[in-house]
Amino acid sequence: MHIIKEYKQWSSYLYSVKVLLLLFLCNCEGKRPRSILQPAGPHAEQIAWLWWLMFDTYGVVYLATLLLLVLALLARKREKPVLGSRFVVIAGIVIPTVILIVMLFFELRVSRGIHSTRSDFHVQVIGHGWWFEVRYPDYNIVDANEIHIPVNQMIRFELSARGMIHSFWVPKLGGKRDQLPDHANNLHLMASIPGMYHGTCTEYCAGQHARMAFRLVAHTQDDFNRWLLRNQQLQEVPSQPRLMKGMQVFSTAGCASCHSIRGFSQADIGPDLTYIGSRLTLGAGQLENTWGSLSGWIANSQALKPNNQMPRTYLSPEDLHALTDYLWSLQ
Ligand code: CUA
Repeated sequence: MHIIKEYKQWSSYLYSVKVLLLLFLCNCEGKRPRSILQPAGPHAEQIAWLWWLMFDTYGVVYLATLLLLVLALLARKREKPVLGSRFVVIAGIVIPTVILIVMLFFELRVSRGIHSTRSDFHVQVIGHGWWFEVRYPDYNIVDANEIHIPVNQMIRFELSARGMIHSFWVPKLGGKRDQLPDHANNLHLMASIPGMYHGTCTEYCAGQHARMAFRLVAHTQDDFNRWLLRNQQLQEVPSQPRLMKGMQVFSTAGCASCHSIRGFSQADIGPDLTYIGSRLTLGAGQLENTWGSLSGWIANSQALKPNNQMPRTYLSPEDLHALTDYLWSLQ
């Protein structure tokens, strides 16, 4: 019985060591789209550096504490204390205070370092229930759930929301910032490596909070210039009869009262669809955008993302296909 009791006691101490080791091993390898420990921008690098500094420092403190605990358990039968009260004052008060002050210094330094005032490019991101509207005010471009930026430029994200509070986060590029309905917040981020990054709403906003994500694409400067040029253009009226029919369905089935297609319809309740055919995802990062998933989303988005603002449609198969063809052609 005594052995079992001892074992239980020891295994509970060992459990926390194992958790720490696991945490460490989990983050060593592999590509993780949302890992802050694989930074891709200067701000994220500073945050990751601080994280490792904390992990290492507090890890050593933790292991030292466990070691003392083991020593104490081994020496508990002795009548005279092994270490005196001087040791308790130094190891229990002085050293922790010094460590905390030094860490505070580094935290303040990183926090100052990531609050940039410089900005080379301006993007507005507006949180809705439950998707992100993305605007490029200097270029008259409106997009949704997808942000395009050039690499190695400091981007000022002007963050706001409609109706409810959200929070904007691209883990590999930097920290989080709240999106409030009555006050715009600024967040400066830079991507150093071209590629696609995952972003998410990181403030509980009820309903479909867990399904409120976006993609951020960092382009090389040339690619980004091409993207800007193309996306400023309005859509032309299609000449193919099937696409013309789809466009007609778009107006008559009620899509146009919520969605904009620049050059054709004006509305700002749902996401802008001017370039829906080239968008990466549907339903705020929920589905890969393919002809099939687009068609399925139009038919019954409620089955894919319950309680989103888009009602179920009751289109005939021909109308649904023509509408999907038309939207898919908006590349
Ligand atoms: Cu929006 Cu959580």
